[in-house]
Amino acid sequence: MRVTVIPRTEEINEIKEKTVVIIDVLRATTSMVAALANGAKQIIPFLTPQEAKGYATHSGDFLLCGERKGVKLSGFDLGNSPREFTRERVENKTLLMTTTNGTRAINQSLSAKHIFIASALNVQALVERLKSEREVVIVCAGTKGKFSLDDFAMAGLVISFLEKNNDIDLDDLGVAAKLLLKDRTLYSLLAASHHGERLENLGFNEDLVYCSQVGVINLVPYYDAGVIKI
Ligand code: MLT
Repeated sequence: MRVTVIPRTEEINEIKEKTVVIIDVLRATTSMVAALANGAKQIIPFLTPQEAKGYATHSGDFLLCGERKGVKLSGFDLGNSPREFTRERVENKTLLMTTTNGTRAINQSLSAKHIFIASALNVQALVERLKSEREVVIVCAGTKGKFSLDDFAMAGLVISFLEKNNDIDLDDLGVAAKLLLKDRTLYSLLAASHHGERLENLGFNEDLVYCSQVGVINLVPYYDAGVIKI
């Protein structure tokens, strides 16, 4: 299996007809996995809060979710902390979600053949799903156009799991991501990242712990025709 890593959304290219794994571990893709594990019906990603609000005028059992600058948007039901997406809040609901980087990375990947949503929570299930693929592209969302250590470390986690049962051919970014996790835990890398520090300053320390849980959810969300579901 050939595995390549794209370090930030702005560098997405040549993914046409390929299998893509989207990572925004802090916190959009972790929140998506948590929401679907807690019974959300589906998630519709939007680039802007205005688009999400516009869609909410249709009839349906919707929740408006998302953040800007890490904080819940005004008038929205939920922010982007995965701990908010409890069964009580999300079961059977369609989530209309917009985040600074995560939903943008999905939007930039629409030419791919398959789009899977990755977090530490579902890494084992994801890797199981990928085992028959010949070529996998790991897309790190990054933060506002910049490389983000948290997503890159998460790419390393995906690779270290992929390596256990597959013969993989990595590009150099893949090798670097994997080496990052040799002597460090995912949590310590999330906490060392600029975005992790920002979230801690906003009072979201517990989110870093939550987002570092490995293999606790056995499902693989995928994007198809405008909707993320399982
Ligand atoms: C994003 O999509 O930019 C992030 O998930 C931001 C956040 O941590 O809320």
